[in-house]
Amino acid sequence: QELQMNLEQIEKGGYDHFMLKEIYEQPNVIRDTYRGRLHANEGIIQMSGVEDNLEKFLNAERIIIVACGTSWHAGLVAEYIFEEFARIPVEVEYASEFRYRNPIIGTRDVVIAISQSGETADTMAAIKLAKEKGAFVYGVCNVVGSSISRETHAGTHTHAGPEIGVASTKAFTTQITVLTMIALRLAKAKGTLSNTDYHRYLQELEIIPEKVKEALETNDRAKEIASVFKDSHNCLYLGRGYNFPVALEGALKLKEISYIHAEGYPAAEMKHGPIALIDAQMPVVIIAPKQGHYDKIVSNIQEIKSRSGIIIAVVTKGDTQVRELADYIIEIPETSDALSPLITTIPLQLLSYHIAVMRGCNVDQPRNLAKSVTVE
Ligand code: G6P
Repeated sequence: QELQMNLEQIEKGGYDHFMLKEIYEQPNVIRDTYRGRLHANEGIIQMSGVEDNLEKFLNAERIIIVACGTSWHAGLVAEYIFEEFARIPVEVEYASEFRYRNPIIGTRDVVIAISQSGETADTMAAIKLAKEKGAFVYGVCNVVGSSISRETHAGTHTHAGPEIGVASTKAFTTQITVLTMIALRLAKAKGTLSNTDYHRYLQELEIIPEKVKEALETNDRAKEIASVFKDSHNCLYLGRGYNFPVALEGALKLKEISYIHAEGYPAAEMKHGPIALIDAQMPVVIIAPKQGHYDKIVSNIQEIKSRSGIIIAVVTKGDTQVRELADYIIEIPETSDALSPLITTIPLQLLSYHIAVMRGCNVDQPRNLAKSVTVE
């Protein structure tokens, strides 16, 4: 018994939970994921799966992304990135919906399946269906040798290492890393990004691990805020553009591990429903980095404040405008809009983690959830 305990302690590497360890691993695993693939100084991105199938990607009429859970959120981030960088139309589908609705799939469609475990039953079924219809299917998996990595025509592995915590953290940011590299590679081939932008993004991606590390310094702040809101019953997460999927992911993390009801919403869509929920009891987490739709977010914050809502805002270091309006702020380093999900997601992971710990929840193995859902 004691030996077992010690072994687990060792595996957790000094952290209280696997989830926290995995959150802290992100600077390293993002680097592991782009190592040997991203050569910023030479302006090269090289992933064999993409190189070998470049024509298929370049001839794609559209890209259909299929996934579940957190991987689906990574797919949503990728939709914004692919369309902006490579100008290829993208659709993001829940694998479970896609597989059962007789979807229109053509031979010039490229399907990207995203899965940490590579074993999710619905994602697997969606892949089989897409293959039957003649689409080219590309996998983005973390587990090498998994069913999905074997079933797809080609793919790129994320190098996140084993993810033990049921709530996905490092798998998410490494998936975004791979998908961003694919988009950049295609943008280069298609000439859809200016040379300057292309090189700037490469440089910026290369230093992202340092910024993620800096973002991890929000841990104490996240803990402080967690202690204020740990007894909330509801929580709303808002973001726009690239950070809309991050809002969804932030809400998912909170509900998964703390059992607090949380919803993620595109900030502007708030007035079509969630605004009715706003009162002095419900925290609203709003992702408001300087790059992006800052002015729009500021007016969303004003709308919430005028209804006595409580704001926790994730802002760029040095921000002044949101600081005045928000009740609590969490400062993160600056990045370009397109790469910001890799940074903004960090304090949200930490916030959920601390709230769950303070509520006495089983952070690594939340009730009713499985690490991989291999049955329908
Ligand atoms: C389960 C896990 C989630 C994960 C989802 C998809 O619900 O608890 O963390 O995001 O499955 O899993 P996959 O392995 O396909 O990424």
